[in-house]
Amino acid sequence: MKFIAFEGLDGSGKSTLIQGTASELKTKGQAVVTTREPGGTPLGDEIRNLLLRTTGDAPVPRAELLLYGAARAQHVDRVIRPALQEKKWVLCDRYSASSVAFQAGGRTLQRESIDWLNDFATDRLRPDLWVLLDLSAEDAFRRMQGRTLDRFEREARDFHERVRAGYRALANEEPRNWLVLDARQSAAQLQTELIDELQTRGWWP
Ligand SMILES: Nc1ncnc2c1ncn2[C@@H]1O[C@H](COP(=O)(O)OP(=O)(O)OP(=O)(O)O)[C@@H](O)[C@H]1O
Ligand SMILES: [Mg+2]
Repeated sequence: MKFIAFEGLDGSGKSTLIQGTASELKTKGQAVVTTREPGGTPLGDEIRNLLLRTTGDAPVPRAELLLYGAARAQHVDRVIRPALQEKKWVLCDRYSASSVAFQAGGRTLQRESIDWLNDFATDRLRPDLWVLLDLSAEDAFRRMQGRTLDRFEREARDFHERVRAGYRALANEEPRNWLVLDARQSAAQLQTELIDELQTRGWWP
């Protein structure tokens, strides 16, 4: 079993790739947990609503970061670590890299504060692999047309371009821990590239 975190802009194809990967693993007889941030627990889902709603008192950037941290700590202790202890695969839609990309890249908070908070919230649990679905803000917006946008999705184009740049910088810092996929490819191509990577690493069942 492995812990894989999927990252990228909203609309980049994370959910699609997670669903496909989970079903491939299940056909191989593997136990799989798919989960997401913010959320993944009852408390986390309540925090998710506070973070993504477009009504009420919007959190200032530091409050936003702390809410993510609280949801993440609950998620790690209640869902991710227990699943890994039970030898299950964990496919997680967003994890601590999202806080670096969105709160440092997007909101321009200090990177050191975010790194500290991420270590605290995750209790230093890191995924075995990060998968970045790399897509321009323009392409991501095009895919989201017609849906009701949450508080982040309503941010301007340049916010999302900074988030994308934040992700790419993180992947460049630790290239062996990141699989960067060109998210303009078809869902089937992306699925094949991910499975090829897992096979290369000797992780595919
Ligand atoms: N490789 C792809 N090429 C083109 N369109 C895609 C691809 N993967 C997913 N899509 C479509 O793009 C939209 C967003 O995909 P998806 O929901 O998987 O992305 P996401 O990263 O989970 O974003 P969000 O969580 O914001 O919905 C969906 O309409 C989906 O059908
Ligand atoms: Mg999704």
